[in-house]
Amino acid sequence: MAQTARSAGTIKKNMRLALLLPIALLASPVFAQLPDGPGREEVEKLCKNCHELARSVSKKQDRDGWQTTFNKMVAFGMKHSDQEMTVVIDYLTKNYPAEAVPPVNVNTAPAVELESRLGLRRSQASALIRYRNEKGNFKTIDDLKKVPGIDAAKIEAKKDVIVF
Ligand code: HEC
Repeated sequence: MAQTARSAGTIKKNMRLALLLPIALLASPVFAQLPDGPGREEVEKLCKNCHELARSVSKKQDRDGWQTTFNKMVAFGMKHSDQEMTVVIDYLTKNYPAEAVPPVNVNTAPAVELESRLGLRRSQASALIRYRNEKGNFKTIDDLKKVPGIDAAKIEAKKDVIVF
């Protein structure tokens, strides 16, 4: 009698375990936990069929980048509706955006950085560095525009990424 009761208890416990197991698996790090929000369901539906979901969200990029990735997946055979595409791209762009690029410190940046980030010509970048070596640190955007040969319009256009 006691024996039967105990085994009934064991069966019950096993059943409970069987019910909990899928939940435990879902919570495990094997499955990427995506942030909540509109589009999450669609990403989970579309983006885990050929590789893990974690791989799908392994990038940080802007809207163009996510659109390109999406198109690539379509080329691999991913099926989707137009509505799914819109919400998936919105979701990925919002939750996995391009890394913020650090600003350019014009008092310490090397020539290559001045060229690539501010779009200066090589001669302008070296003029800037010469000027800063001779006169000391720049303090304002107007100081920068005093550099001989510098393109003031270009400096103005890039002022949001410039720090001193
Ligand atoms: C039809 C199959 C399929 C589906 C569905 C799919 N992918 Fe992929 N994905 C692939 C293949 C194949 C690769 C590997 C190709 C490679 O490494 O260039 C890949 C690689 C990736 C990569 C890493 C390489 C890269 O191009 O950046 C990312 C990121 C990615 N997929 C995102 C997604 C997203 C986001 C979704 C859902 C919108 C998705 N995938 C759905 C087939 C698929």
